[in-house]
Amino acid sequence: MQTKAVVEQLAGIVGANQVLSTPDLMGAFVVDWTGRYRGDAICVVRTHSVTEVSAVLALCSGAGIPVVPQGGNTGLVGGSVPQVNSGAVVLSLTQMNSLGPVDPVTGHVSVGAGVTLAALQAHAHAAGWSFGVDLAARDSATIGGMVATNAGGIHVVGNGMMRKQVLGVEVVLASGEVIRSMSGLAKNNTGYDLTQLFCGSEGTIGVITEVSLQLIRPHSTELILSGCESVDQALSIASRFTGKLAAAEIMDRAGIDAVSRVTGIVVPFPTPFHILVEVDGEIAPGDLDDLEFVTLAMDSGERAKYWALRERITEVLAVESVGVSHKLDISVPLSELDAVYREITTYLDQPGVRDVVLFGHLMDGNFHVFFTTDTDDTTLDAAVLELVAACGGSISAEHGVGHMKADHLHLSRSAPEIAAMRGIKTALDPKGILNPGVLFI
Ligand code: FAD
Ligand code: LAC
Ligand code: ZN
Repeated sequence: MQTKAVVEQLAGIVGANQVLSTPDLMGAFVVDWTGRYRGDAICVVRTHSVTEVSAVLALCSGAGIPVVPQGGNTGLVGGSVPQVNSGAVVLSLTQMNSLGPVDPVTGHVSVGAGVTLAALQAHAHAAGWSFGVDLAARDSATIGGMVATNAGGIHVVGNGMMRKQVLGVEVVLASGEVIRSMSGLAKNNTGYDLTQLFCGSEGTIGVITEVSLQLIRPHSTELILSGCESVDQALSIASRFTGKLAAAEIMDRAGIDAVSRVTGIVVPFPTPFHILVEVDGEIAPGDLDDLEFVTLAMDSGERAKYWALRERITEVLAVESVGVSHKLDISVPLSELDAVYREITTYLDQPGVRDVVLFGHLMDGNFHVFFTTDTDDTTLDAAVLELVAACGGSISAEHGVGHMKADHLHLSRSAPEIAAMRGIKTALDPKGILNPGVLFI
């Protein structure tokens, strides 16, 4: 089908003003948050209902047109934007932002895929509940995107990842058929768990249009900021609170200094690392007495300030860094974390590699490894990912595989696993129109 005819037919489904087809209007939809992944598209389509999504997919499926589902476009692995000469349609879900009522007994809530995390959090708080996942991109990241990437964030150590909060999904398959499993039943043993299949599927097997979520009861926490000499010392401090941890984050010197430069927040300690440990309930007297560099947040202002030192790292580096940005998100067993950290910093200590920052979700064994280079050479990325795999880790702790790591998937998944995943992809998307090049090469 001619591009003009595709655009006209899509406009017939969603309305002409919901189809963007000029380069300036499409600009923000075809470049990812990091600026590293840039592509092009026939057009961007903004849908408002499951019926529209279904009609768009049926049309694209019939015409063999690739579709790239997109939420807040905060993903860090290139999966939310098309590639160059893609001939794709970007399907933007951000207008599907309905917020259902919170069930006061169960804490269940159904929301549109385009609801931002911040909007969900505000909605939950207004009803006396809280949402178990939190991350710094909360103002833009959408619930649909967070399910599609199985997002992690700062509370995984206490509440688990996104998939643990998901009770059900409404999904449109490539054909346009709709699967709706939103009952929220506590018990339903009727075969394969399709809801969980879509958690972490990265837009490759269906478009998520609505999500049923379990909220949690708010609980009070104390926030500790401590300076540490090593990753092992950081682990040992956080481990004192095992079973009561709501968050345990680590920042290296380069990351915390970058935030300080931009925000003016003073870095409290002279140590190579800082950790933030959020503990459920109160800290017992004596718990921290032996530590030289430690402070407790005394009020909400101090909490916000200490959290900013951690949460603003990604944003600050995006402003300060020049060149090709490399953003890896690895996880390894906790027993390997200190050694892997040291080895990675050795790999990255070479000419042409700048802005090396390691930080992340300490007790998840998850380091974000950020650096910049002049050229788009992925030799170092490959070396880091191979090291991680050799240590029994994962090449993606939370950001997903996207385009970035598709050719490294074999490092974390066996051949039979990849074959099974391909089988699922083919069964649900036989023409391969959904997010081509993401997850598999
Ligand atoms: P997008 O970026 O739009 O899309 C991500 C992927 O999901 C793409 O493959 C896309 O095709 C697919 N997708 C999107 N919506 C749908 C849908 N409705 N149906 C099917 N597929 C869909 N991530 C973490 O896990 N933990 C963090 O702590 C964290 N912190 C971050 C901090 C910053 C400052 C930034 C910029 C990013 C951070 N991220 C983090 C990454 C990002 O926010 C998450 O991956 C988030 O889940 C992406 O949501 P999104 O709506 O922006 O999705
Ligand atoms: C974070 C993102 C980069 O943890 O995952 O800040
Ligand atoms: Zn993270």
